[in-house]
Amino acid sequence: MRDQCARLHLVFAFQFHLSMLVILPALSLAHSKCVLFNFGDSNSDPGALMTALGLYLGPPSGQQFFHKPTGRFCNGRLYIDFICQNLKIDLLSAYLESSGSDFTHGVNFAVSGASTEVSLYNPFSLSTQAGQFGHFQNRTRELRRRGKGSMMSEKEFRNAVYSIDIGQNDINLALVANSSYQQVVNKIPIILERIENSTKALYKLGGRKFWIYNTGPLGCLPQTLALRKKNESELDELGCLALYNNGAKAFNDGLSNLCSKIRSELKDALIVHIDMYAIKYDLFANPGTYGFEKPLMACCGNGGPPYNYVNKKTCGEPTASACVDPSGSVSWDGVHYTEAANAVIASKITSGDYSTPFFSLKSFCKKKLV
Ligand SMILES: *[C@@H]1O[C@H](CO)[C@@H](O)[C@H](O)[C@H]1NC(C)=O
Ligand SMILES: *[C@@H]1O[C@H](CO)[C@@H](O)[C@H](O)[C@H]1NC(C)=O
Ligand SMILES: *[C@@H]1O[C@H](CO)[C@@H](O)[C@H](O)[C@H]1NC(C)=O
Ligand SMILES: *[C@@H]1O[C@H](CO)[C@@H](O)[C@H](O)[C@H]1NC(C)=O
Repeated sequence: MRDQCARLHLVFAFQFHLSMLVILPALSLAHSKCVLFNFGDSNSDPGALMTALGLYLGPPSGQQFFHKPTGRFCNGRLYIDFICQNLKIDLLSAYLESSGSDFTHGVNFAVSGASTEVSLYNPFSLSTQAGQFGHFQNRTRELRRRGKGSMMSEKEFRNAVYSIDIGQNDINLALVANSSYQQVVNKIPIILERIENSTKALYKLGGRKFWIYNTGPLGCLPQTLALRKKNESELDELGCLALYNNGAKAFNDGLSNLCSKIRSELKDALIVHIDMYAIKYDLFANPGTYGFEKPLMACCGNGGPPYNYVNKKTCGEPTASACVDPSGSVSWDGVHYTEAANAVIASKITSGDYSTPFFSLKSFCKKKLV
């Protein structure tokens, strides 16, 4: 901690010297911190499952890091948590965690089960989350005058990273509904339009730096394989369900085009697209590289090989149990990734190697807009 402060001082001193400022801006130090606003689903939900939806996810979730359930679908940290650690900021709290939250480094609006559309079970669609951000911003402005709240400045709102990781539930629901592949593909434009509208809504509220993830290989998830596979001929060379991966890829192609479109329309915004599919697919294609075994088998679940996934006996139910060493598994509960996998995912995200245009996350968050 002291090292970190010393480094911040050094960086500041250097900038100070370079620009030969005469008047020291009171909050310059604070401006060099990263601020992150995240929008999404269970892939990046740090506890809204409990705080927003009022549900409880029992043990063994959380056992490896938090030593108690936190509402994260994981044995420990999610990739968003590792990202915060990589950026040297506190883990982001769920927006609706009303007790003890510190929002000075940003807010996590993600809610498990969220999609781009409001549903009967989950009102926290992407547009709801963007609306909540609008409220947070208004409330911050109101409270700031009284020396309360997150005290986030207008500059910090402007230079913050707005990350969006949504779409998995939309595509999965479309595929599970037994629609034909063409019917699923036909639903993609409206899903993308909602993402476009929410991104533009955040832009209208002053957001300029967007970090947009595509979706992972749905067909490699143990849940998909256990519940949807009817015939071995449906599998690809890794043993994943080709139909589900193709659905994800069709969405991702559209998202990539959408990012180009938004880039050309919002000239003063930075739109970075992150290939989450490639990052996650690599865990299934080359598990040994990362010390993983049997990537298609859930660590926590029921039923044993090949997928260890049984409906209604899933992780968190008393009838399910976790494997001895989750750090050897890619999948935690059949849908979500283990802490060990999330660490790998986060380091690849932060590196910038999967970003278009190239930006390491650190350089992106430090990038100042005029
Ligand atoms: C924020 O405040 C502005 C007026 O200052 C208002 O138009 C807008 O609707 C408010 N947004 C939210 C989400 O409350
Ligand atoms: C999809 O079809 C399967 C049988 O092939 C059936 O069991 C399931 O209920 C159907 N799902 C929906 C959402 O219609
Ligand atoms: C997106 O925004 C446009 C313009 O405001 C609106 O006409 C359209 O209905 C919105 N699309 C969706 C899917 O909400
Ligand atoms: C599996 O699919 C193949 C090719 O579509 C078909 O020839 C075969 O009969 C199917 N097997 C079963 C058990 O349905």
